[in-house]
Amino acid sequence: ALPLTCRVERTFTAIKPDAVNRGLIGEIITRFERKGYKLVGLKLVRPTQPLAETHYAELASKPFYPSLVQFLCSGPVVAMCWEGKDVVRTARKMLGATNPLESDPSTIRGAYAIDVGRNVVHSSDAVSTAEREIALWFRPEELVEWAPTSLQWIY
Ligand code: PPS
Repeated sequence: ALPLTCRVERTFTAIKPDAVNRGLIGEIITRFERKGYKLVGLKLVRPTQPLAETHYAELASKPFYPSLVQFLCSGPVVAMCWEGKDVVRTARKMLGATNPLESDPSTIRGAYAIDVGRNVVHSSDAVSTAEREIALWFRPEELVEWAPTSLQWIY
Protein backbone atom coordinates (compact mmCIF):
# COMPACT_ATOMS: atom_id res chain seq x y z
CA ALA A 1 0.00 0.00 0.00
CA LEU A 2 1.12 3.55 -0.68
CA PRO A 3 2.04 5.66 2.36
CA LEU A 4 -0.63 8.13 3.51
CA THR A 5 1.59 11.05 2.53
CA CYS A 6 1.71 9.85 -1.07
CA ARG A 7 -0.24 12.05 -3.46
CA VAL A 8 -1.47 10.26 -6.52
CA GLU A 9 -2.34 12.99 -8.98
CA ARG A 10 -3.17 13.40 -12.64
CA THR A 11 -1.65 15.95 -14.96
CA PHE A 12 -2.24 17.13 -18.50
CA THR A 13 0.80 16.96 -20.74
CA ALA A 14 0.88 17.92 -24.42
CA ILE A 15 3.48 17.15 -27.06
CA LYS A 16 3.40 20.31 -29.17
CA PRO A 17 3.38 20.52 -33.00
CA ASP A 18 7.13 21.17 -33.22
CA ALA A 19 7.90 17.90 -31.42
CA VAL A 20 5.33 15.91 -33.43
CA ASN A 21 6.89 17.24 -36.65
CA ARG A 22 10.36 16.30 -35.44
CA GLY A 23 9.40 12.73 -34.57
CA LEU A 24 9.85 13.12 -30.81
CA ILE A 25 6.54 11.55 -29.68
CA GLY A 26 8.03 8.20 -28.70
CA GLU A 27 11.00 9.77 -26.96
CA ILE A 28 8.79 11.95 -24.75
CA ILE A 29 6.30 9.18 -23.90
CA THR A 30 9.22 6.87 -23.06
CA ARG A 31 10.58 9.33 -20.50
CA PHE A 32 7.26 9.39 -18.63
CA GLU A 33 6.86 5.59 -18.80
CA ARG A 34 10.40 4.97 -17.58
CA LYS A 35 9.97 7.48 -14.76
CA GLY A 36 7.11 5.29 -13.52
CA TYR A 37 4.00 7.20 -14.49
CA LYS A 38 0.84 5.62 -15.86
CA LEU A 39 -0.80 6.79 -19.06
CA VAL A 40 -4.55 7.15 -18.54
CA GLY A 41 -5.41 9.33 -21.56
CA LEU A 42 -3.85 9.67 -25.02
CA LYS A 43 -4.97 11.14 -28.34
CA LEU A 44 -3.71 13.01 -31.38
CA VAL A 45 -5.56 16.32 -31.75
CA ARG A 46 -5.47 19.16 -34.26
CA PRO A 47 -6.46 21.91 -31.81
CA THR A 48 -9.01 24.50 -32.94
CA GLN A 49 -8.34 28.14 -32.19
CA PRO A 50 -11.05 28.26 -29.47
CA LEU A 51 -9.50 25.22 -27.76
CA ALA A 52 -6.02 26.78 -27.80
CA GLU A 53 -7.38 30.16 -26.63
CA THR A 54 -9.18 28.52 -23.70
CA HIS A 55 -6.15 26.39 -22.85
CA TYR A 56 -3.95 29.50 -22.60
CA ALA A 57 -6.71 31.83 -21.29
CA GLU A 58 -4.70 32.87 -18.23
CA LEU A 59 -2.00 34.25 -20.55
CA ALA A 60 -4.37 36.38 -22.64
CA SER A 61 -2.73 39.64 -21.52
CA LYS A 62 0.81 38.50 -22.46
CA PRO A 63 2.35 39.91 -25.65
CA PHE A 64 3.19 36.40 -26.88
CA TYR A 65 -0.39 35.07 -26.40
CA PRO A 66 -1.48 35.33 -30.08
CA SER A 67 1.64 33.57 -31.36
CA LEU A 68 1.40 30.91 -28.62
CA VAL A 69 -2.20 30.15 -29.61
CA GLN A 70 -1.34 30.15 -33.31
CA PHE A 71 1.57 27.79 -32.74
CA LEU A 72 -0.51 25.26 -30.80
CA CYS A 73 -3.00 25.20 -33.70
CA SER A 74 -0.31 24.86 -36.36
CA GLY A 75 -0.28 21.04 -36.40
CA PRO A 76 -1.07 17.89 -34.48
CA VAL A 77 -0.71 17.82 -30.72
CA VAL A 78 -0.45 14.64 -28.61
CA ALA A 79 -2.74 15.20 -25.64
CA MET A 80 -1.93 13.00 -22.65
CA CYS A 81 -3.11 12.45 -19.13
CA TRP A 82 -0.46 10.96 -16.82
CA GLU A 83 -1.16 9.58 -13.36
CA GLY A 84 1.11 8.94 -10.38
CA LYS A 85 2.73 10.21 -7.22
CA ASP A 86 3.37 13.97 -7.37
CA VAL A 87 3.07 13.81 -11.16
CA VAL A 88 2.14 17.50 -11.57
CA ARG A 89 5.34 18.88 -10.07
CA THR A 90 7.56 16.05 -11.26
CA ALA A 91 6.39 16.42 -14.86
CA ARG A 92 7.33 20.11 -14.75
CA LYS A 93 10.81 19.11 -13.54
CA MET A 94 11.08 16.55 -16.33
CA LEU A 95 10.13 19.25 -18.89
CA GLY A 96 12.70 21.72 -17.59
CA ALA A 97 12.61 25.51 -17.55
CA THR A 98 10.27 27.32 -19.97
CA ASN A 99 13.19 29.04 -21.66
CA PRO A 100 15.42 26.35 -23.23
CA LEU A 101 18.43 28.58 -22.56
CA GLU A 102 17.84 27.95 -18.86
CA SER A 103 16.70 24.33 -18.93
CA ASP A 104 19.11 21.65 -17.79
CA PRO A 105 20.27 19.45 -20.71
CA SER A 106 18.95 16.38 -18.85
CA THR A 107 15.36 17.67 -19.20
CA ILE A 108 13.10 17.31 -22.23
CA ARG A 109 13.35 20.98 -23.20
CA GLY A 110 17.02 21.08 -22.32
CA ALA A 111 17.65 18.13 -24.60
CA TYR A 112 15.40 19.00 -27.54
CA ALA A 113 14.49 22.72 -27.58
CA ILE A 114 16.28 25.92 -28.55
CA ASP A 115 13.50 28.54 -28.77
CA VAL A 116 11.02 29.49 -26.02
CA GLY A 117 8.29 29.73 -28.67
CA ARG A 118 9.04 26.16 -29.82
CA ASN A 119 9.59 24.38 -26.53
CA VAL A 120 8.32 20.89 -27.42
CA VAL A 121 6.03 20.15 -24.47
CA HIS A 122 3.47 21.57 -22.08
CA SER A 123 2.47 20.26 -18.67
CA SER A 124 0.02 21.68 -16.12
CA ASP A 125 1.61 24.00 -13.55
CA ALA A 126 -0.59 23.03 -10.57
CA VAL A 127 -3.12 20.40 -9.50
CA SER A 128 -6.02 22.82 -10.00
CA THR A 129 -4.74 23.75 -13.47
CA ALA A 130 -4.41 20.04 -14.30
CA GLU A 131 -8.07 19.45 -13.40
CA ARG A 132 -9.14 22.29 -15.69
CA GLU A 133 -6.90 21.24 -18.57
CA ILE A 134 -7.82 17.52 -18.37
CA ALA A 135 -11.51 18.45 -18.48
CA LEU A 136 -10.85 20.79 -21.43
CA TRP A 137 -8.98 18.24 -23.57
CA PHE A 138 -10.65 14.94 -22.61
CA ARG A 139 -14.18 13.66 -22.22
CA PRO A 140 -14.53 11.60 -19.02
CA GLU A 141 -14.94 8.34 -20.98
CA GLU A 142 -11.61 8.96 -22.78
CA LEU A 143 -9.71 8.53 -19.50
CA VAL A 144 -8.98 4.89 -18.76
CA GLU A 145 -8.76 3.52 -15.22
CA TRP A 146 -6.38 0.57 -15.20
CA ALA A 147 -3.94 -1.23 -12.94
CA PRO A 148 -0.96 -3.33 -14.01
CA THR A 149 -1.94 -7.00 -14.22
CA SER A 150 -0.04 -10.28 -14.42
CA LEU A 151 2.24 -10.37 -17.46
CA GLN A 152 2.02 -14.16 -17.91
CA TRP A 153 0.69 -13.88 -21.48
CA ILE A 154 3.68 -11.82 -22.66
CA TYR A 155 6.51 -14.01 -24.03
S1 PPS B 1 4.79 33.06 -17.62
O1 PPS B 1 3.38 33.44 -17.63
O2 PPS B 1 5.44 33.34 -18.90
O3 PPS B 1 5.50 33.62 -16.51
O4 PPS B 1 4.75 31.51 -17.31
P1 PPS B 1 5.44 30.30 -17.97
O5 PPS B 1 4.94 29.11 -17.23
O6 PPS B 1 6.92 30.48 -18.02
O7 PPS B 1 4.90 30.29 -19.43
C1 PPS B 1 3.54 30.08 -19.69
C2 PPS B 1 3.37 29.63 -21.13
O8 PPS B 1 3.76 30.68 -22.01
C3 PPS B 1 4.80 30.23 -22.86
N1 PPS B 1 5.75 31.34 -23.02
C4 PPS B 1 6.09 31.87 -24.18
N2 PPS B 1 5.71 31.57 -25.43
C5 PPS B 1 6.26 32.34 -26.43
N3 PPS B 1 7.14 33.36 -26.22
C6 PPS B 1 7.52 33.67 -24.97
N4 PPS B 1 8.37 34.68 -24.78
C7 PPS B 1 6.99 32.92 -23.88
N5 PPS B 1 7.15 32.96 -22.54
C8 PPS B 1 6.39 31.99 -22.03
C9 PPS B 1 5.42 29.06 -22.17
O9 PPS B 1 6.01 28.17 -23.08
C10 PPS B 1 4.23 28.45 -21.47
O10 PPS B 1 3.47 27.62 -22.32
P2 PPS B 1 3.57 26.05 -22.20
O11 PPS B 1 2.66 25.52 -23.24
O12 PPS B 1 3.17 25.70 -20.82
O13 PPS B 1 5.01 25.74 -22.49
